[in-house]
Order: sequence, then structure tokens, then C-alpha cells
Amino acid sequence: MIKKCLFPAAGYGTRFLPATKATPKEMLPILTKPLIQYGVEEAMEAGINQMAIVTGRGKRAIEDHFDISYELEHQLKGASKESLLNEIREVIESCTFSYTRQKQMLGLGHAILTGQTLIGNEPFAVILADDLCYNEDKGVLAQMVEIYRKYRCCVVAIQEVAPENTNKYGIIDGKLIDDSDNIYRVSTMVEKPDPKDAPSNLAIIGRYILTPEIFDVLKNTKAGKGGEIQLTDALLELAKEGKVVAYKFKGKRFDCGSVDGFVEATNFFYNINLTFAPNPLQKS
Ligand code: UTP
Repeated sequence: MIKKCLFPAAGYGTRFLPATKATPKEMLPILTKPLIQYGVEEAMEAGINQMAIVTGRGKRAIEDHFDISYELEHQLKGASKESLLNEIREVIESCTFSYTRQKQMLGLGHAILTGQTLIGNEPFAVILADDLCYNEDKGVLAQMVEIYRKYRCCVVAIQEVAPENTNKYGIIDGKLIDDSDNIYRVSTMVEKPDPKDAPSNLAIIGRYILTPEIFDVLKNTKAGKGGEIQLTDALLELAKEGKVVAYKFKGKRFDCGSVDGFVEATNFFYNINLTFAPNPLQKS
């Protein structure tokens, strides 16, 4: 039902300078795998195999990562290390990747509008690769596809945050419409409000299912908070018509766009890898 996933990946990643001066933030690894590959694998698990990536200057490494490296294949052929390529090979073989460039980094909303050329006129998923999600059972995007199937409108993933942190997120308010599934019909949403102005502590994280209607709204969305074209502002227009639900997902989310979240994710994934496979990092 949802066939395409859009990855806005054009941001400068200034919080990770100097690492992100010549390396895309999305290529920073948690253990041995780049952030964006975790995102692509989450989309695959949700039944999606068309990946649409919005890139920008200095992001060429993303395209190379999702392509065959003949030199490396040749070098490792028959060697024990060849198995280290298995995971990425499977991703490359089972998905298509298309790219477009955001020429000016005018904000997340603008990045999504830039991706319209890759998406066309159909509902689609969005993953912000710097939000790394993990659930032992069904992945977060797969959970959201199920919600979309039921409600047929935009779905945003939310989690509760400490009240003093509302100014780091888009914050929603709404009516709980499905207790067992933790779903809210969104009535309002605000980008990065001060704690005193926040309508709740329910924060949007980097997973969305959007209907193509969002493109028409984004075309008319003016720059908002921080002078950027905000997806939150465009979604608010659809929320006013009852066309957005928020889903409190099952699982964990790490803010890998911040150094603290990145370190936390690294430790977490290192520990679960040890649980599932002793010494996974020393595999030769
Ligand atoms: P962030 O707010 O994390 O910005 O963007 P950033 O530039 O990546 O990082 P910092 O704050 O400078 O450290 C959220 C997501 O939106 C994308 C980013 O790539 C990231 O996935 N984005 C943001 C774009 O694609 N284009 C933009 O103009 C802005």
C-alpha cells in the first residue's frame, strides 16, 4: 500500500562538525552501519522497496553506499571478510534508490516538497535517518503503515518528552481516539514551543506517513520557526481538517542528530549485538 519512503538528507548536520564537513551526517555509523542504512532497513521491514532520497551538496557518499562497489567485491571475493558485505548487498538488490537535490536548505518542509518529483501522487513514508528507532518486535514504520491502513490520513509518530525539552520538537495536542493503540486525532501542532507555551509534552519524532495533499499545502507554507519552511506548519493545516493522527509508537528512539543520543545509540546497539552474537565486531 505504501510503496515509497522519502529520506530528507540534505541538512548540514552542524551539531556534528567537523565530522560532517565532508561526510554526510546520515553516513555516520552506529557500530559498523551508517544511520541511513538502518532507516532503509526499517522501511524494507514495513514492506517498502522504493527509496527516494533528498540530498544536497557533499552527500555523494550516500549514493555510493547504495551502489555496487566492483573494486571491493573483487578484492573480497572468496575471502572470509566477504560476508561483511552481505547485509548491504541484500539492501541494494531488493530496493531501488532515486535521488534529487535540495539546492537551498530551506527546512524540512522544503526538503519534502523537493522530494515530490520522486514521490508523485501517492501516500508515502518519511524517515529522518538521524532518528534511529528500534523495536524488538515490529519496527516503528511497519507499525505506522498499519495505522495508515486503518485511518487513511497522515500519521505522525510521537513520544512523551520531558516538559523542559518541548523546544526541541514539534509538539501536538489532540484527542485520544484509540486507547489501546495510543492514537490521537491531532487538533493542533506547534514547532519547538517554549515549555510554557507547549500544548502538551507529546513530541513528533522523525517518522511520518503523508498523503500527497501535503505537497499542495507545502507550496503555500511560509517560512516559520528559525526562518525555515516547517513540515509541522503544513501538517497543522491538514490537522485542522481532521486529517492527521498521532501514534505513540512501541519501541525506542535515539536522537542521533545530537552527540548524546548518538553515544546512547552506540552503547545500546553494542550491547544488544553482544546479546545476540558474541563478538560480532570481531567477525573476520
Ligand atoms: P535537522 O533539524 O536535524 O538539521 O534536520 P540538520 O541540518 O540535519 O542538523 P543540525 O541541526 O545542523 O545539526 C532534520 C532532518 O531534515 C533534513 C536533515 O537532513 C535531517 O534529516 N533537512 C533539514 C533537509 O533535508 N533539508 C533542510 O533544509 C533541513
